Amino acid sequence: MGKAIVIASGKGGTGKTTATAALSSCLALAGKTVLCIDADAGLKNLDLCLGLSDKAVFDFGDVISGRCGLEDAVIPHPQLPRLFFLTAPVDPITSAEEAEGLTRLIRFTRDIFDYCLIDSPAGLGSGFTAAAAAADCAVIVSASDPSSCRDSARVVMELRDMGVADVRLVVNRVHKGILSRTKQTIDDAVDSIGARLLGIVPEDKHVILAAAAQQPLALSKNSDALSAFERIARRMDGEKVPILTK
Ligand SMILES: Nc1ncnc2c1ncn2[C@@H]1O[C@H](COP(=O)(O)OP(=O)(O)OP(=O)(O)O)[C@@H](O)[C@H]1O
Ligand SMILES: [Mg+2]
Repeated sequence: MGKAIVIASGKGGTGKTTATAALSSCLALAGKTVLCIDADAGLKNLDLCLGLSDKAVFDFGDVISGRCGLEDAVIPHPQLPRLFFLTAPVDPITSAEEAEGLTRLIRFTRDIFDYCLIDSPAGLGSGFTAAAAAADCAVIVSASDPSSCRDSARVVMELRDMGVADVRLVVNRVHKGILSRTKQTIDDAVDSIGARLLGIVPEDKHVILAAAAQQPLALSKNSDALSAFERIARRMDGEKVPILTK
């Protein structure tokens, strides 16, 4: 059976969609079958990060409501064999039936794919809860400033209350100069968030350039952020890869 991993955060804009796209691509390039699901109904943009803008005809709402089958809505990535994508509806999840349907759908996909990565909406709303309810584990994407850390810690607590015991942390957009000027450390962030560190991703203009070009980061020029995501994907897949903190 595959693994469903929810990518979550306290604050918005921390890099969940970027991380979901990059980690899914890296896992697929390493030979795993991966489904990435945009669970950010109403504010979807995982398609852009994957270079699949408007390629999907059906979304997970269509599957849940029975308007189409899962096989009609899931699209293969044209450049990344083994990577598949299921997009979100344009309207947010409002009913308990939709939320339960998404949870059931994610659980079902674990029988088909090695990994199912779910790009959750920020915070603790119904999209997050629906995704987290089906997750075997979670990755929190956070910045390292105290305000982000506090919100991330709240989400970690919520995940643990929901029974998701395996919660890992990716500290994103790390800028060494700013960390030293603000006298903050990655260790401080890890301690205050209360989740095991899975990896550190530097602030890197290549992420912004790839997103602007609607090009998957994993198919872009090699960069520090891509190397960091490759190492994180290997760690997610159980390989012992040291975390580079320097
Ligand atoms: N390591 C990085 N270096 C530079 N820019 C980054 C990095 N990670 C993410 N970004 C940029 O930060 C912005 C927000 O990223 P992203 O959309 O992935 O966040 P999000 O957590 O999914 O946001 P939301 O909560 O709105 O869904 C994007 O413009 C993205 O290109
Ligand atoms: Mg997002």
